[in-house]
Amino acid sequence: MNNFEFSLPTQVLFGKGQEENLPERLKPYGTKILMTYGGGSIKKNGLYDKLKNLLKDFEIFELGGIDPNPRVESVNEGARICRENGIDMILAVGGGSTIDCSKAIAAAAYYEGNAWDLVIGKGKITNALPLAVVLTIAATGSETDAAAVISNEKTNEKLLLGHPLLLPKVSVLNPENTFTVPAYQTAAGSSDMMSHVIEAYFDNIEAFVPDAISEGLLRAAIKYTPIAIKEPDNYEARAQLMWTSSLALNNLTETGKSFMWSCHYIEHELSAFYDITHGAGLAMITPKWMRYILSDKTVDKFCDYAANVWGFSRELDKFELANKGIDATEEFFKNIGMPMTLGEFGIDDSKFDVMAENAVKNGYLNMAYVPLTPSDVKEILKMCL
Ligand code: NZQ
Ligand code: ZN
Repeated sequence: MNNFEFSLPTQVLFGKGQEENLPERLKPYGTKILMTYGGGSIKKNGLYDKLKNLLKDFEIFELGGIDPNPRVESVNEGARICRENGIDMILAVGGGSTIDCSKAIAAAAYYEGNAWDLVIGKGKITNALPLAVVLTIAATGSETDAAAVISNEKTNEKLLLGHPLLLPKVSVLNPENTFTVPAYQTAAGSSDMMSHVIEAYFDNIEAFVPDAISEGLLRAAIKYTPIAIKEPDNYEARAQLMWTSSLALNNLTETGKSFMWSCHYIEHELSAFYDITHGAGLAMITPKWMRYILSDKTVDKFCDYAANVWGFSRELDKFELANKGIDATEEFFKNIGMPMTLGEFGIDDSKFDVMAENAVKNGYLNMAYVPLTPSDVKEILKMCL
């Protein structure tokens, strides 16, 4: 194990009715709230009205219409509202897109220029408004991490912004708020959380404890995703997935490891150029990446994965066992309704060169578990055709 520091300062309020604690939790931060949300799901399922009613003693300003793969324009708009109205705190009600956009707004409220400067490092984060979250989809882990992923359509970039000041102060995780998540988004969310775990799991540092946690999280996603898709209002399934999504990306599974991304930066290029659903892209890429990096050097790790996550016998030949684990991963994503080829997203090979270059540069893929060059990334993308 490497040395590490670990802390989880976000107060997680998990379970039924936890929204009711929000007024008391938010009071210390002031009275003016910017409530942010996406394309309208919270209005359809009643959460918007419920929260407005609960927070009637606060002055609420709103920024709705935040897109999946949130755009920098929404960040600038939110920052303007915060500055002009002296907003005290932000309440993000939604999934990773709304939360990420809100994190960037929280920082941009203290920055006079274009928020994109903060994303590309041209401007520095010096302060951020406090952020609270009501999570509505189990997927990214943004509810308990300090990262935000922001897109710029003009430059075809989707980049990560990270700073400890962006960590939510409090996150309400009520699984009932995910009952209305459609099957496709449920599957994409699970694919994303599984990818987070897998990216940390495949690492060159020996770390039995975080790996055992990872294997448990993967088994939870594998068990409960099909149930949540079949029975959208199955509380237990939604609850297990919601907690898995948070634990999958709050540093826990990375403790003592090198942790470098691989599949995520390849997916971010697809989202940047083609605006696809993050988790769906990962479901397609992850098994291809696994096949590409399987070798004498990595096979033992793949055997652990196949045996401990998927339950295959260790008596099999090493490569047979490893391939069974990869096949099971691909089959699982396919069975929960995820696309397995770029054609299903309507994507061809015309941007492979630029996407491969960008993925390696932005994600430092030359330092990944198995280092990847642009031509390796291109090969992985070709496997997705
Ligand atoms: O916009 P609305 O109308 O709310 O609909 C959303 C959206 O269409 C819908 N949805 C969410 N909750 C719902 C619901 N529909 C019905 N009922 C509900 N309760 O689901 C769709 C997707 O929402 P989105 O917020 O985009 O999903 P997700 O949570 O998967 O977030 C994806 C974004 O997060 C980034 C991704 O790149 C992407 O931009 N990520 C953020 C990370 C982080 N901050 O740490 C890490 C991740 O790896 C990821 O990159
Ligand atoms: Zn992700």
